[in-house]
Amino acid sequence: MLINTWYVACDAVDVPHDKPKQVRMLGHDFALFRDGAGKINCVSDICVHRGASLSHGRIHKGCLECPYHGWRYKGDGACAEIPAHPDARVPKKVRVDSYPVEERYGWVWVFLGDLPEAQRPPIPVVPEYTDPTRRPVRGTFLWKANYGRVVENGVDFGHAAFVHPSFGDRDRPEVMNHVMEESEWSAKASIAMRPPAYRGIWKYLRRTERENVTASPEWHIGGLCIVLRLQITPKWANVLIDVNTPIDENTTLTHWILLRNFFTSKFFDKDTTRRNLKIFEQDQEVIGRLAPMELPTRVQDEYSVQSDGMMVAFRKKREELYRRGWGLDSKLYNDTMKGIKAAVIPSPARGEDPKGWVFPEAPRLVMPESDQRIAAE
Ligand code: FES
Ligand SMILES: [Fe+2]
Repeated sequence: MLINTWYVACDAVDVPHDKPKQVRMLGHDFALFRDGAGKINCVSDICVHRGASLSHGRIHKGCLECPYHGWRYKGDGACAEIPAHPDARVPKKVRVDSYPVEERYGWVWVFLGDLPEAQRPPIPVVPEYTDPTRRPVRGTFLWKANYGRVVENGVDFGHAAFVHPSFGDRDRPEVMNHVMEESEWSAKASIAMRPPAYRGIWKYLRRTERENVTASPEWHIGGLCIVLRLQITPKWANVLIDVNTPIDENTTLTHWILLRNFFTSKFFDKDTTRRNLKIFEQDQEVIGRLAPMELPTRVQDEYSVQSDGMMVAFRKKREELYRRGWGLDSKLYNDTMKGIKAAVIPSPARGEDPKGWVFPEAPRLVMPESDQRIAAE
């Protein structure tokens, strides 16, 4: 899994004002809590004293109070008070990792990593979110699938014809030529897709051939976000924003918002939600059974064709980031530390000051230097 990017932890409205909330991301637990000003903070869930779960504590004067011996942590992770020794100075080392938090699109975004602000991949910008002519519906979907497989699926042009009968046509599965544009933290493309022929009553009402739908997907490293714009008719358009948070290597939580400019009355919300979830369920059927479940690190570990361009670009970017040291070595962590020794996702304060922490950071992937070495292993 990837550190040094933003992930959506939950909906902002789901963070209570009077108590902390636990969230799991990247195989680790975090505590979200609101300080005295109502601002949401995110800290590692493990108390440095005896390992209690801070998210099971309470909020005391804007601090997060540990449920075990009451040590009180501020939003920046520093311990403000050890109640058993009220007059003693609290050493600097008594602190937990605290992660930058932003509220955007009604979601709580948390930066999980140790990079300074200027070097962080950005949170994606989706202008349609504030367009008053768009009607939003939102929800979540829990995948039994690896996050990399989920992201690739979201920008995969070739599978609609075989997996999604509502918008692909298996009799016309050809993927038309398209151009892809890549930038440092994202890629986008636009393609004409052939929708399935009209069925049922629509067949009699509309005798003409259905027009192509233009699909314009983007992937972003920020939030492992996919933005999918569909121009369904010259007037009807929708935008799906989905962010993909790895809970662990093979469980991914998607938060999604679908904005439509047609059938904008509330009456159609339920049906829109149902249709969107059905599409995720169709994907789950396939991507929950891929071998291996995890996305292979290198492009050449599977065979790709021209229509896989967006997926290939994502996989290459992820490999580049792994080579920069942004990958977590979950296998090493699970085999040597889990249940035995606390380890945490590093925060920006750790980047500035790597020493003086009670717990070590979770181990990172060390990438083999060359492909020859991979081949030899
Ligand atoms: S375990 Fe948290 S204060 Fe003791
Ligand atoms: Fe799909």
